[in-house]
Amino acid sequence: METFKEITPEQITDNVFKLVGKEWMLITAGNSDGFNTMTASWGGFGVLWKKNICFCVIRPQRHTFKFIEENQTFSLNFFENKYLDALLYCGSHSGKDVDKITNSGLTPVLDGTPYFQQARLVIECKKIYFQDLIPENFLDPQISDNYPAKDYHRMYVGEIIRCLSK
Ligand SMILES: Cc1cc2nc3c(=O)[nH]c(=O)nc-3n(C[C@H](O)[C@H](O)[C@H](O)COP(=O)(O)O)c2cc1C
Repeated sequence: METFKEITPEQITDNVFKLVGKEWMLITAGNSDGFNTMTASWGGFGVLWKKNICFCVIRPQRHTFKFIEENQTFSLNFFENKYLDALLYCGSHSGKDVDKITNSGLTPVLDGTPYFQQARLVIECKKIYFQDLIPENFLDPQISDNYPAKDYHRMYVGEIIRCLSK
């Protein structure tokens, strides 16, 4: 299998709208004692507080939420299209109910922040901020349509501390 090479955030050439919105990512958090992953298609990258950052949003009922909360870091994992089935699986099954890592067929790398061997791009982030989204701040009323169960996301901002690319 092709090996990873460390790159800087500035060397990422992917279009973020395609990368996150169309190809999706696996948000992974935990450590060698326990970790979880879930598919996400909302989030992004940019610059904030003079740092290269990413942001993602996680609903509180996700099993992954507990791991993001309990750990200082998380990883965003991006894959070639041939891994779509694994992303669909991780986006429709909860680690609360099944051994989704084994069932996904993906191989975790458990040296530090967990990530996946099959990823083509891994962005490792250190949590530096979180905020629960509140409906009082929805300036566009249509945003509420995303929350029929009022399970508002918690937004995490992560400082990008390492990027691995194949
Ligand atoms: C394409 C796609 C995008 C998703 N994006 C998000 C997201 O941004 N935030 C979120 O909380 N859940 C998102 N989900 C839902 C979770 O991936 C899904 O509920 C998953 O089963 C949670 O797994 P867990 O309970 O093991 O954490 C998405 C699912 C899919 C299929």
